[in-house]
Amino acid sequence: MRTLFVTGGAGFIGSALVRMLMADSDWRIVNIDKLTYAGNLESLAELTDNTSHIFSRSDICDRSAMDSLFHEHRPSGVIHLAAESHVDRSIHGPGDFIETNISGTYTLLEAARTYWSGLDTAERTAFRFHHVSTDEVFGSLGETGLFVETSTYQPNSPYSASKAASDHLVRAWHHTYGLPTLITNCSNNYGPCQFPEKLIPLMIHNAVSDKPLPIYGKGDNVRDWLYVDDHARALRLVFEQGVIGETYNIGGHNEKTNLEVVDTLCALLDQLKPRSDGRSYGAQKITVADRPGHDKRYAIDATKIERELGWTPEESFESGLMKTVRWYLNNSAWIAHVVSGEYRQWMDRNYGDRT
Ligand code: NAD
Ligand code: DAU
Repeated sequence: MRTLFVTGGAGFIGSALVRMLMADSDWRIVNIDKLTYAGNLESLAELTDNTSHIFSRSDICDRSAMDSLFHEHRPSGVIHLAAESHVDRSIHGPGDFIETNISGTYTLLEAARTYWSGLDTAERTAFRFHHVSTDEVFGSLGETGLFVETSTYQPNSPYSASKAASDHLVRAWHHTYGLPTLITNCSNNYGPCQFPEKLIPLMIHNAVSDKPLPIYGKGDNVRDWLYVDDHARALRLVFEQGVIGETYNIGGHNEKTNLEVVDTLCALLDQLKPRSDGRSYGAQKITVADRPGHDKRYAIDATKIERELGWTPEESFESGLMKTVRWYLNNSAWIAHVVSGEYRQWMDRNYGDRT
């Protein structure tokens, strides 16, 4: 059984990837996660007794911890998702973003390079370091156009600048040292187990909690939405079949304004969990001050991964959003534990001896 490192595997996308790989592959996974506010082992509850999933509470900025993990587990590859991921938090406090996204990626690259350099030729050739990144590194689009792999990097927020820096480090470690790397740049994800600070889970949670639904500015910013399991499938495909040194854009062909997203969510909730007073959840929408430096529009051209690796999304925005709303309505304990902080105690009870 070959071993794969997944960093950030207790987060939103990382946990979806780990659940998918554990259900449908032979990988033994070492899940490396610091468990920041965004890391939640309750998202991996189904794996608590699975011995092929090894959880290590570790910080990717800690070089000796990374060296020990490589030495102990001898992985065949790394899929690197650990990051600070929320744009608004990066505006209020960029320090953690610089630390984890830039210094942490540098530290992980160096630990991986040291380990990889000591492998025999066959193992060295098979090894892969896959860095998971974002379309936000390309900046903001106007009314038309799509991000392609060769689009110029123009990051606008502290978050996207830190991710852009990490992409450049990965590229340099391949070009200079020959480390076998892959990079993917994906659009906005949504789905189960997303921390309720991001647009879609925040709106669902606030709606059913009878709280305001805050729309930044005019609500006309556009994002290109992808269901998280489609992203996880794409990551697996790129990791297993992508061409070393290449980058791949991943996106769902689902461009929507924020207002369209919130209106669709309200309509779904009106249908699935009508308000007791008979009014629409849309009545809870409010306009708030815009995000500073708010990127206007993102949209991905995903033809490279489609043409070269045969990936296309399985979910439409309608089917993915229906699944997502149903998941949050049926898993109110997950979100209640996050909002109350109870998820920390859940982790102590179930993983206390391992974290
Ligand atoms: P998330 O915030 O839900 O999860 C991040 C995880 O990383 C958490 O479990 C956290 O505990 C862990 N982490 C943070 N700092 C760490 C450190 N120093 N050491 C070890 N672990 C640490 O993020 P997400 O939305 O799942 O995003 C995962 C990755 O995908 C990120 O790299 C992000 O930039 C990228 N991405 C996200 C999206 C999106 O829409 N969410 C889209 C494209 C790319
Ligand atoms: O494009 C990929 C990126 O998508 C990822 O790299 C990031 O990790 C991820 O957080 C996401 O970034 P965004 O800033 O696009 O996502 P967020 O959910 O924060 O916001 C989506 C849009 O909704 C954005 O235009 C801001 C707006 N918004 C957001 C919140 C939280 C609101 O109008 N109101 C809100 O309360």
